[in-house]
Amino acid sequence: MAGTSWRCTVLIIGLCCGRLTTSYTQDTLCPKPAISEDAILVTFLSDVNLTCAGCDGQVFWSHGSPYKSQRPLEKAESGHLVLRAVAYDDEGNYTCYKDGAPVCTVELLVRDQPQEGTSLSCYNPHPTHNITCEWSPTELLHPFSTATLVKVRVPEEPLFFPCTYDGGRRIFTCSSLHNEADYSKQVFLLCVRSRTDSVRAASLEANWRDLLHIGPPLNVQVTKVEKHPRRLEVRWSLPEFWEEPYYRLKYQVLYQVENSLHQSNGTTDDTSFIIHDAVMRRQHLIRVRATEEYQENWGSWSKDAKGVPWSDGATMTQVPNEDHTPTPQQPEDPENEVGVLTVSRGVFRSWIAPGVSLALVILFLLGLWIRYQEVRMVKLHCGFLRSLVQSSSIEDRAPPPPVTESLLSSVVVTVPPLLEGD
Ligand SMILES: *[C@@H]1O[C@H](CO)[C@@H](O)[C@H](O)[C@H]1NC(C)=O
Ligand SMILES: *[C@@H]1O[C@H](CO)[C@@H](O)[C@H](O)[C@H]1NC(C)=O
Ligand SMILES: *[C@@H]1O[C@H](CO)[C@@H](O)[C@H](O)[C@H]1NC(C)=O
Ligand SMILES: *[C@@H]1O[C@H](CO)[C@@H](O)[C@H](O)[C@H]1NC(C)=O
Repeated sequence: MAGTSWRCTVLIIGLCCGRLTTSYTQDTLCPKPAISEDAILVTFLSDVNLTCAGCDGQVFWSHGSPYKSQRPLEKAESGHLVLRAVAYDDEGNYTCYKDGAPVCTVELLVRDQPQEGTSLSCYNPHPTHNITCEWSPTELLHPFSTATLVKVRVPEEPLFFPCTYDGGRRIFTCSSLHNEADYSKQVFLLCVRSRTDSVRAASLEANWRDLLHIGPPLNVQVTKVEKHPRRLEVRWSLPEFWEEPYYRLKYQVLYQVENSLHQSNGTTDDTSFIIHDAVMRRQHLIRVRATEEYQENWGSWSKDAKGVPWSDGATMTQVPNEDHTPTPQQPEDPENEVGVLTVSRGVFRSWIAPGVSLALVILFLLGLWIRYQEVRMVKLHCGFLRSLVQSSSIEDRAPPPPVTESLLSSVVVTVPPLLEGD
């Protein structure tokens, strides 16, 4: 399988660039190491049966290797040394001794197991930075193995970049120079070279646009907007490695009420965004990602930032049901409505007790007065005056009771959620 895709890559390169076709072979890009023709090549963890010319009968084998060998000097009856499940430290020269004298030597080399299904991942964190490629082997590699990244971009000559190995993460990382003006297709190959072989372990064909991986915007912070119970202000800083102003970014802000499935989003060129349709008093989860302004290639999302819009206790009287039925898509309250709401809330708070008492007293007196007037009117049989007083009594009497009622009921409703909220 790997061989087939390799041939395809060679074919593509060959078709693109007839001039260089012949030089683009696996041997050019991943050149094979020179090994002794007499050496015995064994794949890691397989068995081997060693012998060499003149080694027969009762003999001893000694192992000379660069490693501290696990296997002691071996006695053999038939001139054959059998090693099971060879490891890398079995490599080296095995000398056959007969009657105390060396007869012959054979070199054993251990080949890596094939790396199946590995992939090369390359990314460019910023147009002016190198392209970084990473590869993790699935199988144990020979301690002497090295990896090289080969960048093939027709019609230029291939470029070779060495990779470094991070033993902790078991990852090879390679850094390849990137030309800012280079938007064309490039092929990356990863060659793994050991003492015995050099193989193309993985490859990647991509346009620069697909390699541009913009990191998540950093320090995403959500703040309340004073006196705006449906707004949240989100601010963040540029993703790591991003330098303005030569390359500008566009951002997308994704937000949702916590535990709700509905998501909303907005875009901006700035490093801040105001959410206008937040749900009052609810926790919101907000994340941001970026793309280069001309490349629609979104980077990674930031971690979730959280925020609750500004509120004051009385907000609950406006939407008593909202805790149970969140409706994130409601349009924002008009600016002035919020203002009025805020002012009336302030007035409500400072004047509530004396105001309500005063209103009740006035209503009581007004009622008495109207009763008195009505009685008097009836007594006077004066239709004109009576109608006047009736209309004025409708105006005066009708509005105050609902106001009083709503004020009273809101006092009752408000108290438990206020305590809850705190
Ligand atoms: C090793 O090879 C020799 C000859 O090639 C053979 O006679 C012997 O049985 C082999 N030993 C093992 C354990 O396979
Ligand atoms: C084994 O012998 C060959 C040549 O005889 C030599 O080049 C090689 O370095 C030796 N290997 C070790 C591990 O000593
Ligand atoms: C870019 O890649 C080249 C070639 O691998 C390397 O020499 C250079 O140090 C890299 N630069 C940075 C900033 O990583
Ligand atoms: C952003 O919103 C638009 C329409 O409102 C929608 O089509 C799109 O899928 C959303 N994007 C994300 C990432 O949720």
